[in-house]
Amino acid sequence: MLAVAGIPHLVTNDPELGEGPLGVVRGAAIVAGDDGRVAWVGPSVEVGDHCDTRPVDAGGRAVIPGFVDSHTHLVFAGDRAGEFAARMAGQPYGAGGIRTTMAATRAASDADLADNARRLAVEALRSGTTTLEVKSGYGLSVDDEARSLVAAGSVTGETTFLGAHVVPPGESADAYVDLVCGEMLTACAPHARWIDVFCDRGAFDVDQARRILEAGAAAGLGTRIHANQLQHGGAVRLGVELGVASCDHCTHLDDADVEALAGSRTVATLLPTAELCTRSPFPSARRLLDAGATVALASDCNPGSSYTTSMPLAVALGVISMGMTCDEAVWAATAGGARALRRDDVGVLRPGSWADFVVLDAASHVHLAYRPGVNLVAAVARGGVWAAGSLAA
Ligand code: NIG
Ligand code: FE
Repeated sequence: MLAVAGIPHLVTNDPELGEGPLGVVRGAAIVAGDDGRVAWVGPSVEVGDHCDTRPVDAGGRAVIPGFVDSHTHLVFAGDRAGEFAARMAGQPYGAGGIRTTMAATRAASDADLADNARRLAVEALRSGTTTLEVKSGYGLSVDDEARSLVAAGSVTGETTFLGAHVVPPGESADAYVDLVCGEMLTACAPHARWIDVFCDRGAFDVDQARRILEAGAAAGLGTRIHANQLQHGGAVRLGVELGVASCDHCTHLDDADVEALAGSRTVATLLPTAELCTRSPFPSARRLLDAGATVALASDCNPGSSYTTSMPLAVALGVISMGMTCDEAVWAATAGGARALRRDDVGVLRPGSWADFVVLDAASHVHLAYRPGVNLVAAVARGGVWAAGSLAA
């Protein structure tokens, strides 16, 4: 059992528990049971009635739900620092760099892939991420995609088969789509919860993406799509039509895309660090939110377009560069990510949810955007146990 009391500002994301859409409780305490779930949330003065352990004091620090990073590509080998430097010297970003990482990934051992994914998952945890989605997509052969998903499964249950990242060199697009929908899907589905496809310039077109997502759904996988990152196209509308859990990137949207997202259950997952690191225009989260769409923020951590695990940076960019309020951005990085993964047991702190929370070296969640680039994560609990840092008893 873990109890934290004296929390000046606790974000629960449950409006029934506190003020506003973030359900903020002031002067709060939170108690986690031995099952790793939240047992009680309420006024600090009452904590003694709800736990049989001595609470630790938050010491003036705010507490928020752990970040739910619903879009990462943590399984790969090597890096692309040279490509990044060339880009910063004026080269454009394109999908082709994926093939560079494919070669390094194919050459890496299973242990190296799992170790690299674990290193990045630990890095993410230290910046407050307690739930991670992890994609394959740098193997691009039956065996290399399957072993990428095994590596992904060693760090998370939210694993995504992204065999349709790009067509590997030397293969025809049609033959590769057949492989992804056939033998590769059969080998990968047992290791995946989701299927994803990169539907964009230089990757897969709308017809190919439709085939791939329909095949994945028929194999029992949930669906999500990389949509409208590099140019405007039909990917967002395809995603909404197929009822995918999330359309990710959404960098180039027209009014029909925004309307389609707003009228659906599909989450628009924005990845502002990808725009930052490719010097691309930021999409307007404001436009999506004003239309009524559900917005999530995620890191897109990958060696090409966004080599960062930092959800606090995504929150700061959501506010500063994409028109979100501080409340909206923190919700999007926690409860929004949970929606994008169709989960209701994370991204929220209420009795019964996982006791995954972040203690901030700050008086409120506003500081995540107000103090960009500053490490404000004092401690992280996952499943009611300190997983990074801790508060002294
Ligand atoms: O989400 N867009 C496709 N995939 C990644 C980039 C992959 C890479 O450049 O290695 C993304 O940005
Ligand atoms: Fe991505």
